[in-house]
Amino acid sequence: MAHGRQPADPLAVNHPLDHWATVRNRFVADHRELRSKMGTLRALALNVIRGDDELAPALRLKGEEFDARLLEHMKWEEEHLPGLLSRTENGLERIIDLREEHARQRERLAFSLEQLRDPEAASLPIARDCLALVRWVETDMAAEERDVVAALGQIVRDQDMAAASGDPGGQGSRD
Ligand SMILES: [Fe+2]
Ligand SMILES: [Fe+2]
Repeated sequence: MAHGRQPADPLAVNHPLDHWATVRNRFVADHRELRSKMGTLRALALNVIRGDDELAPALRLKGEEFDARLLEHMKWEEEHLPGLLSRTENGLERIIDLREEHARQRERLAFSLEQLRDPEAASLPIARDCLALVRWVETDMAAEERDVVAALGQIVRDQDMAAASGDPGGQGSRD
């Protein structure tokens, strides 16, 4: 970069605002889709817990679909969120937290998939496990959303400050 401040770290590459808007839109769309899938999964799990065993095959199917979609979403986040989170206070710690949380989720999803694919596994523990997984992922998604909103706010503020000071290269880096 020939002009303006250097990024505080290699992740803090300057991008125009519309790049971050695209990242935010994909993040929001993914979370909306995942919440919809969790709603379906929760309803199926509750019905199985209430004794409707005929829904067990659908629960297994929707459980596998949800787990696969969440794994795909996590991979996308690991490619696109670090650049955004690096704009926040304690950004590097948030990035480390994201990776550690995802590692825990991958372990958890591996356990979930093992049960969902086991033809010998009973429906009731599978349903209970699906409910517990949904609750956990909902909490994690809410925390992620707070971090992403904070990062986007920081980027907009930094760009406004840079524009006001006539420094077009001053976007978003945190010292
Ligand atoms: Fe995530
Ligand atoms: Fe997420």
